[in-house]
Amino acid sequence: MSDIKKIKEEYLSKLKSKIDISQVNQIKTDLFGKNGLISSQFKNIGSVVEAERKKFAADLNSIKDELQDLINSKVNEIETAEINEKLAKEIVDITLPERSFVQGKIHPVSQTIDEISSIFSEIGFSIEEGPDVENEYYNFTALNTPDNHPARDMHDTFYLDENKETLLRTHTSPVQIRTMLKEKPPFKIIAPGRTYRSDSDQTHAPMFHQVEGLHIDKDINMGHLKGCLNYFIKEFFEVDKIKMRFRPSHFPFTEPSAEVDIGYEIKDGKIVIGEGDKWLEILGCGMVHPNVLKNAKVDPLNFQGYAFGIGIDRLAMLKYGINDLRAFFECDYRWLNHYGFDPLDVPTNYRGLSR
Ligand code: DAH
Repeated sequence: MSDIKKIKEEYLSKLKSKIDISQVNQIKTDLFGKNGLISSQFKNIGSVVEAERKKFAADLNSIKDELQDLINSKVNEIETAEINEKLAKEIVDITLPERSFVQGKIHPVSQTIDEISSIFSEIGFSIEEGPDVENEYYNFTALNTPDNHPARDMHDTFYLDENKETLLRTHTSPVQIRTMLKEKPPFKIIAPGRTYRSDSDQTHAPMFHQVEGLHIDKDINMGHLKGCLNYFIKEFFEVDKIKMRFRPSHFPFTEPSAEVDIGYEIKDGKIVIGEGDKWLEILGCGMVHPNVLKNAKVDPLNFQGYAFGIGIDRLAMLKYGINDLRAFFECDYRWLNHYGFDPLDVPTNYRGLSR
């Protein structure tokens, strides 16, 4: 018998006997490894006398195929046997009690940011972000707040260096500048995020949340600002009517500037928004100052518009009946369990972005 036939006979019988996967792998290497028996025969083809070479090569190929097929089916056979054995052994005891687990809750502030973002996106605002660690220029100077302006003290800023060049942003307004410098007008954006001031009591925390709004186009006026805020407040508090008043105010980055109060009353110990004769301040706004537009490379003779800044935490407190702001940031799981939102069981009015 020729060499290759001998190899074939020997390995066919090995593969047909009861072997495990490591033995199959060994056979593979013996035959088809770099210096394997079959691989070496292929190298020999050239030295076979010409008259027999063709037949030799054809035989060799068919032996190679036969052995390879057998190896593959052996591997399959072994794997199937292993799975069957596992299935037979591993019995699931369905009478065991379930494992307990703690389900996370969505923080009321995250929920509120989602709701705000979704209301504004429905009326054409897109969402921007800016860094928490800001530089003095974007936070103050570009917003028409010069070096000696009292607002810089008023803000009780957390400066991060001695030269007062880097700081934790005191408001989300710097995102206005960043957005305008990045793209060309028109702009219609909101920018929710964290803001920081050195302040702490029942209604102030050193870290809190704001959402900035900016709408710049050729002919945007204060009427648009009023309409937009009115729509937002009604949607957010889910009421048909809202009492709202614009009080003249001052911000360096808007002219004219206003603060907005909404009407409320206390009924059965609860705040009811949209009724009554009490007023609650919820945001600052105004028409963007031409100097701000100039600083952001927008031509104030061609473009104008409004901006606003809303305190998110305050809105969340009002909507969800939470009366101490500090609880938001204490990370007390019991509190979160009570006030948080179930990720899979969102309120019917929930219109979060994740849907
Ligand atoms: N940045 C102001 C603050 O934190 C709020 C504000 C007022 C934002 C008027 C605005 C605005 O965009 O136009 O007190």
